[in-house]
Amino acid sequence: MNALVQVTGLRKSFGDNEVLKGVDFEVERGEVVAIIGPSGSGKTTILRCINLLERPTGGRVEVDGRVVCEELGDGTMRFAERGDVREIREQVGMVFQRFNLFPHMTALDNITEAPKSVRGMSKEDANARARELLDSVGLGHKADAYPLQLSGGQQQRVAIARALAMEPALMLFDEVTSAVDPELAGEILMVMKRLAQQGMTMLVVTHEMSFAADVADRVLFIDHGVIVEQGQARDVLTAPQNPRTRAFLHAVLDRAPMAEDDESTAGAGEEAGFGGSDLFSERVATDPEAGPDDG
Ligand SMILES: Nc1ncnc2c1ncn2[C@@H]1O[C@H](COP(=O)(O)OP(=O)(O)O)[C@@H](O)[C@H]1O
Ligand SMILES: [Mg+2]
Repeated sequence: MNALVQVTGLRKSFGDNEVLKGVDFEVERGEVVAIIGPSGSGKTTILRCINLLERPTGGRVEVDGRVVCEELGDGTMRFAERGDVREIREQVGMVFQRFNLFPHMTALDNITEAPKSVRGMSKEDANARARELLDSVGLGHKADAYPLQLSGGQQQRVAIARALAMEPALMLFDEVTSAVDPELAGEILMVMKRLAQQGMTMLVVTHEMSFAADVADRVLFIDHGVIVEQGQARDVLTAPQNPRTRAFLHAVLDRAPMAEDDESTAGAGEEAGFGGSDLFSERVATDPEAGPDDG
């Protein structure tokens, strides 16, 4: 079967600033792919091109068998028709870096809005589903809270629930923890990890290297609008081949190389500032299905 997302030769310019210079990658169904790279390298633009929040200037994007855009032989672009764009956007949930819940709506209403207005779901069904989703992100008790009454971490979890309410085939995450206090990032990452374990296909722009190592199947490193290196998460993060990848990881990991999966280095991550590593071991300790591998 085709990959859920196929991106081929993707290019995007803003004026004469070409920010994506021919990007190729795929995301298989059920796969979690992390995109890492320096600020300004084009990560957000890639995500926004996938659901046509930006219109690519070259190349081809296909999602779930639907052509989002393609470059024709004469170099012009053909974009999905309006109806298709709507269907593609329904298939693709996105959670942004900055909180973008509707401020005048409660958490519950934020979640039920699209299912009711786009899907024509009844209020009762939409509310029931929204309550399940709020429970699933640990916010069952916040249904009636307004965004301003919630922490950044809670708002992002509501935003995830809101995206999931449309039952997307693909979830895009754009540095969803970068604007929250570090101690609240873990609760968002926990929700994302659970979603990955449930089989959701995810494309995740992140600076959380421990999350990428722990949850992503593959990692793409992008720099100046080009994918410089991609591969299995562990390979890219622990044994990067390209000097630019090495330099980037060196910088974000505060000079500590990422530890191999080795008991003797288990404590190294914390000292090196791997936020969230203890969070994940806590999950292992409390999740009966996540026992030690050597059982
Ligand atoms: N709407 C826009 N108009 C003009 N330039 C943009 C726009 N969006 C992004 N850019 C530029 O594209 C480049 C890549 O941006 P972005 O994809 O946001 O990078 P990243 O997410 O990796 O930090 C940056 O130089 C940025 O200034
Ligand atoms: Mg960005």
